[in-house]
Amino acid sequence: MHVHRYERIWLVAALALIVLFIGTVTYGAVGAGYGMVDDTGGEVDPSNPAASDNFREPGVYNGSEPDHYDVYIEAKQFLFVPGTSEPVRVPANSTVTFHVTSTDVMHGFEVVGTNINTMAVPGQVATVTVEFDGPDEYGLVCNEYCGSGHHTMEGTLKVVPESQYNGTSGANTTSSNTTMSGGNVTSTATATSEVN
Ligand code: CUA
Repeated sequence: MHVHRYERIWLVAALALIVLFIGTVTYGAVGAGYGMVDDTGGEVDPSNPAASDNFREPGVYNGSEPDHYDVYIEAKQFLFVPGTSEPVRVPANSTVTFHVTSTDVMHGFEVVGTNINTMAVPGQVATVTVEFDGPDEYGLVCNEYCGSGHHTMEGTLKVVPESQYNGTSGANTTSSNTTMSGGNVTSTATATSEVN
């Protein structure tokens, strides 16, 4: 069978385009460090995540390392706890692991202007670990449509200078296992952390 030369050229070009498109989609899905919310964060009871071993009362906790912090955030229609009514505060030059879950429907958790972006899935905990250098302030937004108030679902993340993180006001007291901004201070604090 004779195929005209130009027909062959366009056939090859069309096949090359298909391969290119599949390649870009594949790279976008798995190649750039993206991943699905998986089981690494563990499962929780969506109606009461803090009752699970995989989650704690929402707030900021000093981790096992002095400059490592764990931030537990509940997303719900239509706010982040903490984040919306009060900013999430973490010190500069720290490593922070966000543990994000939802207590009702699917939400998004995006720290604007960064590559911190995950879904908040009821019953599952999404974990994202990041490093913060200098002090800064970021917006938090929900980027999954979650109901009539979706467009109002936002919050604030403040990366404050380390000196300010050890501030003297009651709400900013830092010690191990103490909730920083969730409002529910746990009473198991035994050691004073060294943030500076
Ligand atoms: Cu929560 Cu959109």
